Amino acid sequence: MKRQNEHSFNVRGYDRLASFYQPIERCVFGDRLQQARTALLDQLPQWDRMLVLGDGDGRLLHAIVHSVTQSQPSSASRTIVSLDQSSKMLDRQRERLAGHGTNVSIEFIQTDALEYQPPADSFDVIVTPFFLDCFNEAELRKAMRVWVAGLTVGGVWYHVDFVLPDRGWRRFRAKLLLHAMHLFFRVTTGLRNRTLVDVQAIFENLNMHPIAKLDGDRSMITTTIYQGQCLQAQSTRVSLP
Ligand SMILES: C[S@@+](CC[C@H](N)C(=O)[O-])C[C@H]1O[C@@H](n2cnc3c(N)ncnc32)[C@H](O)[C@@H]1O
Repeated sequence: MKRQNEHSFNVRGYDRLASFYQPIERCVFGDRLQQARTALLDQLPQWDRMLVLGDGDGRLLHAIVHSVTQSQPSSASRTIVSLDQSSKMLDRQRERLAGHGTNVSIEFIQTDALEYQPPADSFDVIVTPFFLDCFNEAELRKAMRVWVAGLTVGGVWYHVDFVLPDRGWRRFRAKLLLHAMHLFFRVTTGLRNRTLVDVQAIFENLNMHPIAKLDGDRSMITTTIYQGQCLQAQSTRVSLP
């Protein structure tokens, strides 16, 4: 019951934020979050089915559809399942994609991701853009194990999120910004999380390891592609200034 109440407060919060999400983000980060969201799209292996969790107002979804359409306009159709708990966020996704001529078929699911169990071996890519930080460590340990079972053999997980730089003023700056963001989301959506969870450790626990990684915004944001260990390609790591 408590989780249900918290969840509906959280959903209503994101519903209210849906129209303002992009302008607020622009004021604080400019284009840097969108750059991080799309940074490694061109390094994704060939895929047919993709699961996007919590894309919010759909800017990454739009970029993915655009890049697929640009690179292979007449290819066989691909499917994206986009899941979000907020109907208003999903409306924004639909609006963004409306009139975008594409052969990518998109299925929208409105549900609590913590309750979602993808069919086994059904997605080549799972995408989590600034999404895993909505959950605490215990929730992530449980849910990520469930979600990863939806990946096909050789499938990859495309993850974008905030991280704490190791030291120095960058760490100090990141702590301040993250504190302000957690406060903002606590007030608007009831977010309970107050700190970043070490998701890299959870990925390692699932035997998923980085095959490509890009650090941005003074090392405060990381875009990473993870893959199961035995299938790792050669790892690449790039740092933005
Ligand atoms: C912090 S926003 C991130 C939005 C977007 N991915 C971005 O890059 O800015 C989190 C998004 O995840 C959704 N979300 C949060 N908790 C969720 C849950 N338990 N199940 C499904 N969606 C959830 C919210 O509705 C919101 O759209």
